[in-house]
Amino acid sequence: MRTPLIAGNWKMNMTVSEAGAFADELLKNTLNESVEAAICAPFIDLPVLIEKLKETNIKIGAQNVYYEQSGAFTGEISAPMLKDLGAHYVIAGHSERRELFGESDSDVNKKAHAVIEAGMVPIICVGETEEERDSGRHTAKVAGQVKAALEGIAAEAAGELVIAYEPIWAIGTGKSATSDDANAMCTSIRTEVEKLYDKGIADSVRILYGGSVKPATIEDLMSKSDVDGALVGGASLKTDDYTALVSGA
Ligand code: G3H
Repeated sequence: MRTPLIAGNWKMNMTVSEAGAFADELLKNTLNESVEAAICAPFIDLPVLIEKLKETNIKIGAQNVYYEQSGAFTGEISAPMLKDLGAHYVIAGHSERRELFGESDSDVNKKAHAVIEAGMVPIICVGETEEERDSGRHTAKVAGQVKAALEGIAAEAAGELVIAYEPIWAIGTGKSATSDDANAMCTSIRTEVEKLYDKGIADSVRILYGGSVKPATIEDLMSKSDVDGALVGGASLKTDDYTALVSGA
C-alpha cells in the first residue's frame, strides 16, 4: 500500500519572509493526514519551513543538490548539508535543471546516489518533450531516463524512491496530460523499475505526475491505479490551493 504524496515544488519563488508567512498560514489549515505532504523550496527557505512546520507531518525538501560531499565547489550545496538542516526530500533531475542548466542523466544518477547516501529520499524527475511525444518516442525516452537515474542504486534504497513523471510540454503551460495518459506513463515507469529490480520494489516505489496539476484535477488523477501523487509547481504557491491538493489526493 503506497501512501499518496503531494509535493509542492516552489521553484525560484518565495522569499524567506514569504515562506515564513506561508508556513504560518498553513498551520491554520487542517491537512488530510492520510496523505503525505511535502514542500520543496529554495535552499534559503528551508530553515524557516523546517522550524515552523516541525510539529506537523509536512516534509521539507530541496530542489537540487550537488553530488560531491564538500570541497571547492563555489555556490553549491551538498547532500550532507541538507540532511543536517533537516531536509527529507531532494528533487533530482527536474526538467528545468536538465534543460536550462545542462544536467545529464549521469548527473541525475550521481545526485540520487548522494541523496540516498546522506539518508534522504530523492524525487527523480523524468519526462519527454512535446516533439518526443508527437513522434511516439515518449515511453522509450522516459524508460531510458529511469534506467540511467537508477544505475547502481541498491534494491533497499530503490523501494523508497519517488519518481515524478513530468511531461515537459505540460509544465507551467496549463496543458496537463489526461489522467489516463499520466497513468499509462506511470505504469510504464513501474514496469521499468520491475525490470531493473523486482515486482516488490516496483510496487513500493511511489510515482507522481507533474504538469499543471490543480486542485480541480487532483481527484481524477489520484483515482488512477499507478499515480501515487503529484509534484506541483504553480498551484503549490498558495496555502489554500496546497491544502486543497492534499485534501483531494
Ligand atoms: O515540479 C513541478 C512541475 O514542474 C510542474 O509545474 O505545476 O507549475 O506545471 P506546474
